[in-house]
Amino acid sequence: MGILIKNGEVITATERFVGDIYCEQGKVVGIGRGLDKVRANDQVIDASGQFVLPGGVDAHVHMELPFMGTESSDDFETGTAAGVAGGTTTIIDFVIPNRGQMLLDALSQWHEKARKAVADYAFHMAVTWYGDTTLREMQTCVREKGIPSFKTFMAYKGAIGVDDTELISVMETAKDLGALVTVHAEHGDAVVALQKKLLREGKTHPRYHAQSRPSPIEGEATNRAIMLARVTGEPIYIVHLTCKEALEAVAEARARGQMVMAETCPQYLLLDDSVYEKDGFEGAAYVMSPPIRPKGHQDALWAGLASGLIQTVATDHCPFNQVGQKDMGRDDFTRIPNGAAGIENRLALLWTYGVAAGRIDVHKFVDLFATQPAKIFGLYPRKGSIVPGGDADLVVFDPTARSTISAKTHHHRCDRNIFEGFEVQGRATHVIVDGRVQFKDGMLDVQRGAGRYLPRSLDARQGRA
Ligand code: URP
Ligand code: ZN
Ligand code: ZN
Repeated sequence: MGILIKNGEVITATERFVGDIYCEQGKVVGIGRGLDKVRANDQVIDASGQFVLPGGVDAHVHMELPFMGTESSDDFETGTAAGVAGGTTTIIDFVIPNRGQMLLDALSQWHEKARKAVADYAFHMAVTWYGDTTLREMQTCVREKGIPSFKTFMAYKGAIGVDDTELISVMETAKDLGALVTVHAEHGDAVVALQKKLLREGKTHPRYHAQSRPSPIEGEATNRAIMLARVTGEPIYIVHLTCKEALEAVAEARARGQMVMAETCPQYLLLDDSVYEKDGFEGAAYVMSPPIRPKGHQDALWAGLASGLIQTVATDHCPFNQVGQKDMGRDDFTRIPNGAAGIENRLALLWTYGVAAGRIDVHKFVDLFATQPAKIFGLYPRKGSIVPGGDADLVVFDPTARSTISAKTHHHRCDRNIFEGFEVQGRATHVIVDGRVQFKDGMLDVQRGAGRYLPRSLDARQGRA
């Protein structure tokens, strides 16, 4: 059985037209006007008055991540299902070995966990230490395992963070392999020093999480990572960029022609640090790294999206429940697990506060949401586009529907939503994943284990951002 989507307004990163799309066996096979059913039992979706978008690609998520003494609360099944409900049909998760653990052992563990995903997934490999075996393992990741992107954490010192010597080694190895290094940029040692000082002063409330990682901490590390990438000649992708200082470092580098790319997330575009002043311990829901910034940074990020300094909007989806997880840090903000949910809300938030608010146009929206993450990480044009031969991952989007985000109704397995009460305009009426309608009129119809692993190669990219 095929699916025929009729009379929708198709929007891609470069095109906009009213037309029909026919999908068969998981692929888009026809795009045009006046298409008819091929078989009597083909499913027809009337998309008149609606947009048809490529399924979203979220290049930064953490499902069932063991972290800070607990595990992120969405597993690959519930997390990818929440993504589908929000129009995200492909994720890239991070394999994160413990310090000293072999990269390929951690990869096996992640493959095992991810088997239950309902939608397609790929992996970045985090390099959390650099030893005698790392070069060979990175080689295997790129050449045999379909993982041509690596992650390094300049924060989380003493756990998964690396020092500068290790970071340079990762960059040099990645360069030789034609791979891409992505960086969590915060000055890890400075964070530890500030945390200790605040705790010595008896400052334990969640608000001090933000005070222990002010924006210069991110600006310094972003600049340092970019300079090290410049020295090694390696392209670099800065994950979850949040502040003006980091953006300035990216702008300077791109102005001199250095291959620097950046990602931000809805929480950094839409929230300010007043969230840490919520009643009681509620600010803990917003404890993530880097933290939510003071007013002023958000406009700079929107401008960065519009001007092309920032290429992607991901979510850094890494949920922890307030009860039973975040409350581990009730008496010490450094023990609050870092992270929050967001995979389901990216589409509606970016549309409402980006497109509908006039900050970005529809093509930029698709580019940030689907096309650029697919291009940068080697999934394009199979993902992130609407082309014959591409995967039939599509979103039929009603731009007029209105709703309010709430933990009471979201599909995240988490007892808080950091966008609680946000009014959003636009909603996916149908989400087609692998040629099958898996979300329709608010109801999920997903299949545990239907998601496929996507081995990647950066040779497949159609030009970097
Ligand atoms: O606070 C965050 N961002 N948690 C997830 C891990 C990371 O740093 O991306
Ligand atoms: Zn991070
Ligand atoms: Zn992350």
